[in-house]
Amino acid sequence: MRLDRDHARALDAADALHAWRDRFVLPHDDAGRELVYLCGHSLGAQPAIAADYVEEIMRDWRRLGVDGFFEGRHRWLDYHERALPALAALVGAQPQEVTVMNSLTVNLHLLLASFYRPAGTRTALLIERSAFPSDRYAAESQVRFHGLDPARDLIEIAPRAGEHCLRTEDILAAIERDGPRIATILLPGVQYLTGQRLDVRSVTEAGRRAGCTVGWDLAHAVGNVPLELHDDGVDFAVWCHYKFVNGGPGAAGGAFVHARHAARPDLPRLAGWWGHDKATRFRMGPVFEPIPGADGWQVSTPSLLALAPVVASLEHFAAVGLPALRAKSTRLTRYMESLIDARLAGRVTVLTPRAPDQRGAALSLRLERERDAARAAFEGLLGRGIVPDWREPGIVRAAPVPFYNTYEDAWRLVDALHSELGA
Ligand SMILES: Cc1ncc(COP(=O)(O)O)c(C=O)c1O
Repeated sequence: MRLDRDHARALDAADALHAWRDRFVLPHDDAGRELVYLCGHSLGAQPAIAADYVEEIMRDWRRLGVDGFFEGRHRWLDYHERALPALAALVGAQPQEVTVMNSLTVNLHLLLASFYRPAGTRTALLIERSAFPSDRYAAESQVRFHGLDPARDLIEIAPRAGEHCLRTEDILAAIERDGPRIATILLPGVQYLTGQRLDVRSVTEAGRRAGCTVGWDLAHAVGNVPLELHDDGVDFAVWCHYKFVNGGPGAAGGAFVHARHAARPDLPRLAGWWGHDKATRFRMGPVFEPIPGADGWQVSTPSLLALAPVVASLEHFAAVGLPALRAKSTRLTRYMESLIDARLAGRVTVLTPRAPDQRGAALSLRLERERDAARAAFEGLLGRGIVPDWREPGIVRAAPVPFYNTYEDAWRLVDALHSELGA
């Protein structure tokens, strides 16, 4: 493989999605120079049209006041429904299986309230030991909420000693072993620290065979890797839209509830008026009649300002389609990995699985230096206008995002690391 910058530029020139970069406003430095922004796994870049979508809400608010809920080009009463077809396509769902509401951890609690129902000897919640802290706090507090003891009823699975990633066979073995006492399984579609993509189908099938409900945190998966939540039989899933979906800081989150649970009166939920049948919501009746499907889990009036950029961004996803994005993403990440192997061997270890189907766009790179030297190298990257992120004790995460990153961005990251890490 050619390692020179001209080759990266040639790959960009041949990239059919290259022009999409111009539809994003990329972060820049004080002098106005565009940064090499590789943090789409944390906060995606801003779609240029997002500001217009937000401004439309502001304008309707000025013009219509409260009537904006029922009038205007895009009335607020069902504004979020504009997002659902594109979102359903992204996660492999029927439109009524998905909704946009709240934010991730809140949605996790709402869906655990319905799907984590410890009873009899089936009381445990299975998570991974390296779960994102908020998921862990949510899971542990749910166990306690039911009067149970996390020391017994929070089961954690971990990679094998000396390994970074979970093995599917180990997850399946844990389900086989502890299945009768597991009420619910909660795992990430893509693990936040290592970038590992888990096998949603195999784990979900095994969990359901064992009599558990199975839910997924798709924060790092949605808009990044293909998902087939309906066909995989997933019970519920939650995610945010501020990473690969580019919906902006604090964007309204997403949730999936499988169609088989769409109208189950036996399923308890934490209800609010926004989940009530739209046709009769404003009659203000005392009896809760949920909208069938995921929308029935809505609770509160949505923040329209947190919804508008999500709707804007999903229009880009609908226009390009995830298959084309994923195809570029796979090539771009492999290119970055090959440069790392060729130029940084021994100085950087790739913690993310090597197989493209076991990861998304992001690579997690351990800098093989003692902690302070690794941190100095990371600061050096920032000084050069290259923006990955840092996780203690020495992991740099970088995601070349197919919508707006280039082969040259990947080249510049590796070249800068080469300079910063010394011989
Ligand atoms: C995997 C994962 N879970 C949960 C969260 C928490 O999301 P929120 O703050 O939107 O609840 C994040 C945030 O980055 C995350 O990456």
